[in-house]
Amino acid sequence: MTDDDGYFGESVAATYDESSAAMFAPGAVEPAVAVLAELAGEGRALELGVGTGRIALPLARRGVGVHGIELSRAMADRLRAKPGGEAVGVTIGDFATARAPGTFSVAYLVFNTIMNLTTQDAQVDCFRNVAAHLEPGGTFVVEVMVPGLRRLPPGQNTVPFHVGTDRLGFDTYDTVTQAMSSHHVRVTEDGRGSFRSIPFRYVWPAELDLMARLAGMRLRERWADWNRAPFTSESESHVSVWEKAVD
Ligand SMILES: C[S@@+](CC[C@H](N)C(=O)[O-])C[C@H]1O[C@@H](n2cnc3c(N)ncnc32)[C@H](O)[C@@H]1O
Repeated sequence: MTDDDGYFGESVAATYDESSAAMFAPGAVEPAVAVLAELAGEGRALELGVGTGRIALPLARRGVGVHGIELSRAMADRLRAKPGGEAVGVTIGDFATARAPGTFSVAYLVFNTIMNLTTQDAQVDCFRNVAAHLEPGGTFVVEVMVPGLRRLPPGQNTVPFHVGTDRLGFDTYDTVTQAMSSHHVRVTEDGRGSFRSIPFRYVWPAELDLMARLAGMRLRERWADWNRAPFTSESESHVSVWEKAVD
């Protein structure tokens, strides 16, 4: 892995689709693609953190022009190698600041990837960068978890999300800085193991709304999922849509 590829270097890229298989299932992909195609209309779509094309490729197959911004060349190479990959343009860079060519009717940032920006400043910059790419009336869609602090007992900072004999996953939270890390321990049959930690910054829905306002966008929709289920106090994630002002 090169430093430039961040936390998604060659070894992660090589197994990304397999290790995220549930997110590649039609039931996870198709509702997202349907929402994004509707929002794109006759215009183009910009995916921030396009990865190996889980959403970009099926969206492009529906006739939407899709461009991606991606930090990891290893992930982008996987996208390009797939059937239809040549139809998706990729700008290598940081989606908080990188400029992609042209303008877009929809931009989207899915699968908790806004949290890969580990400071509030970077997340604010990301909203500003998106606004600069959007046409007036264009939309920005974010799919992200609701911070799981309700699962933190007093005095603890750790929440397990997978406990099994060959795999252990847990998140650690710093409620002062909103820093969060996901830790993955894997044990192989020969008793060997691996440990991988990824840093995040968790972010509240209302905080995202304020970032959108700072960038000249207003909340249009907030659902609990891509099937547009109502967002409630029990929702563990949300799909939010902000609209850029028409001036
Ligand atoms: C969880 S994966 C999601 C990939 C794809 N969007 C999907 O839904 O399968 C996060 C992707 O965002 C990329 N990424 C993370 N931070 C980034 C940044 N600041 N700028 C550009 N890409 C970034 C990673 O390299 C990785 O490919």
